[in-house]
Amino acid sequence: MNRNTFRVVAGSLLILVSGWLMAADDGREPFDDRYCTTCHGTDGQGNEGVQAPRLAGMEDWYLKRQLENFRAGIRGTHPMDVEGIAMQPMAAKLSDESIADIVEWVGSWPFKPAEVTVEGDAQAGAQLYTTCASCHGRDASGNEALGAPALLGQNDWYLVTQLKNFMAGYRGYHADDTYGQQMRPMAQMLGDEAGIINVVSYINSLAER
Ligand code: HEC
Ligand code: HEC
Repeated sequence: MNRNTFRVVAGSLLILVSGWLMAADDGREPFDDRYCTTCHGTDGQGNEGVQAPRLAGMEDWYLKRQLENFRAGIRGTHPMDVEGIAMQPMAAKLSDESIADIVEWVGSWPFKPAEVTVEGDAQAGAQLYTTCASCHGRDASGNEALGAPALLGQNDWYLVTQLKNFMAGYRGYHADDTYGQQMRPMAQMLGDEAGIINVVSYINSLAER
């Protein structure tokens, strides 16, 4: 899908969800904030149509941090970050109780590795991935101590977009985004879009081992 189609589809959903958010401002319960599957798909399996990634199987600490970052405007506020701008208002009004509720709710969904949609030169990607492995793990299963999430099983089209956004400085640019700032130079090291496609193809290949 091109970015204009994305703007239209995501824009309509944004209006829909913002309507609920505004309507129910008083007396909200954490449970009222479980509107995530509208974009992220049934059981949070991801929805490429609106560029919303898989949430099922996401580490609780990573999910919590990202919701807090979106809420604080540390992420999803760069004017060129089209997808992040769709997500940011969805977190803007979450209370700490809602975030805790969502983390528990998402944690109950089954992890199913996402379908492979990106194909590049996995062998060239393997070379590039040696640096990534020091934080994300050789098997791409993540490392909580370093704050680096699992990449394995995430929607590959989403990994590509995020690497492009880090590379261009649309993500990880905020002075308070400590973890995003660590990731930015790593994406730049991939050089260009071909490097991104290749490293993501290699990550895909890890699922088959
Ligand atoms: C209007 C559609 C929409 C709704 C509703 C929505 N999201 Fe999102 N979400 C997105 C899009 C698009 C992205 C990709 C943006 C990005 O990461 O740059 C995203 C990204 C995310 C990310 C980042 C994932 C990662 O790997 O870094 C998390 C976490 C997230 N959403 C959680 C939620 C939760 C929890 C809810 C419900 C409270 C929610 N979203 C509701 C559209 C939505
Ligand atoms: C110095 C440690 C480090 C290295 C090396 C590193 N990363 Fe990361 N990466 C991180 C951290 C920390 C985050 C979480 C950023 C955040 O919280 O927003 C991250 C986030 C990501 C994300 C976003 C995931 C999501 O769900 O939104 C992708 C994709 C990613 N890294 C890919 C890579 C690739 C590919 C490489 C190798 C080129 C790499 N990383 C190297 C630390 C690292």
